[in-house]
Amino acid sequence: MTLIEPFNTILDMQHGTLQPAGQVIQRRLSDMRNMYFDRSAYEQIMAEEGDRLIYEVYNAPELPKTEDQLLHCTTLIYPGRVGQEFHMTKGHFHAKRDRAEVYVGLSGKGHLLLQTEEGTVRDIAIRPGTVAYIPPLWAHRTVNTGDQPFSFLSVWPGDAGHDYDSIEKTGFAKLLLEQEGQAVLVDNPKFHR
Ligand code: F6R
Ligand code: ZN
Repeated sequence: MTLIEPFNTILDMQHGTLQPAGQVIQRRLSDMRNMYFDRSAYEQIMAEEGDRLIYEVYNAPELPKTEDQLLHCTTLIYPGRVGQEFHMTKGHFHAKRDRAEVYVGLSGKGHLLLQTEEGTVRDIAIRPGTVAYIPPLWAHRTVNTGDQPFSFLSVWPGDAGHDYDSIEKTGFAKLLLEQEGQAVLVDNPKFHR
């Protein structure tokens, strides 16, 4: 085990950023080409508006990717929709499926969708102060269902890794859509196991 110096960062609870951050990741619409349900809405945004920024991840300073460390970051999802579908993260399983995670809501409002390999879905509403536990074996995606930026803090084991491909192939079995001003969870007709 490596002895590293204790450190802290400052969490901006209002804006959902960590300072000083390590790696900052920006995910744009084109990074999620196959993930939004409405392909024509995707093409229209790309043609008329360009490659929209969907969300940012502010990682804590670099840590060893080992089981003894706790990686942490904030995620900031900008408000908006692609067709009726709210802005969301790509979503992933942990590459090591037996690794858990905790999310803490900071600002705005959103949902955490969880899904097993078999396609069972759970939905947890996230508000500032909500502490959500993601047990091992559940894929997870977050969705901004509000009209303000939605942010949360995440903490997970250093060796968990990310498996994005499995979710990209199957999709989530449920979609969060805007219908008559409400966020509604509906079956995803394109979902396949
Ligand atoms: C880490 C974790 C979160 C997400 C972040 C962005 O294991 O679950 O920090 O990585 O919210 O979402 P993805 O990684 O799905 O693009
Ligand atoms: Zn995760």
